[in-house]
Amino acid sequence: AKPEPVKIMISGAPASGKGTQCELIKKKYGLVHISAGDLLRAEIAAGTENGKRAKEYMEKGMLVPDEIVVMMVNGRLLQPDAQENGWLLDGYPRSLSQAAALEDLGIRPDLFILLDVSEEVLIERVVGRRLDPVTGKIYHLKYSPPENEEIAARLTQRFDDTEEKIKLRLKTHRQNVEAVLSIYKDVIFKVNGDAPIEDVFAEIDKALSSVLEKKLRTDSSS
Ligand code: AP5
Repeated sequence: AKPEPVKIMISGAPASGKGTQCELIKKKYGLVHISAGDLLRAEIAAGTENGKRAKEYMEKGMLVPDEIVVMMVNGRLLQPDAQENGWLLDGYPRSLSQAAALEDLGIRPDLFILLDVSEEVLIERVVGRRLDPVTGKIYHLKYSPPENEEIAARLTQRFDDTEEKIKLRLKTHRQNVEAVLSIYKDVIFKVNGDAPIEDVFAEIDKALSSVLEKKLRTDSSS
């Protein structure tokens, strides 16, 4: 029988590198990447009522209310592709109430990755971040520059990526992170996210391989 799919959560302060690592994990392990921030930005782009409300909170660096986020993420997690291939949940849960909503559905991760990054580094990462609206790829002017002039010319910046807004986003993160960690104590894997992208991925890759091996062993012995 096919082994149980892998379920991973990734957390860390704003601009700690969650999206960047998710791209690499997705490529190697084929998990479905579900980003709460991306789902919200898609609602904004589609001009829905939820998108309009969400943007008001995102502009202030605050958490979007549960009545918008919880249904949105739970719905995505329960779709067949995520159920069959396993998932990689990025930026969710971000509060005790969101974690509790997942617990109520019996949804728990095999591994909870925590990217640990110092504050000066976070600010530099936010200010230099750029996005390619065509491919969705994340760049950084200094650490991960675009491959050519054509891509460089079309890069955009997120509306909440200013030094002033990152400070508000960081404050929200600090207020909530401990409560979320307390729910996942037994599966937390803390990584030094200050290191270069490939080094951070090498650490995550090691941890994921061992989760996978353990799962295969348990599945074949049951
Ligand atoms: P969200 O979109 O999730 O933003 P965030 O948590 O602030 O995280 P980011 O996307 O900014 O950063 P990241 O960690 O993915 O870093 P990245 O890989 O891009 O949320 C936005 C807003 O939506 C929230 O403020 C909130 O309002 C709302 N929201 C979201 N989830 C919610 C929830 N659960 N509940 C309620 N509201 C919610 O990297 C950053 C930059 O650094 C890039 O330029 C990258 O190239 C570079 N970089 C990455 N890694 C490295 C490295 N190792 N070395 C050098 N550079 C690197």
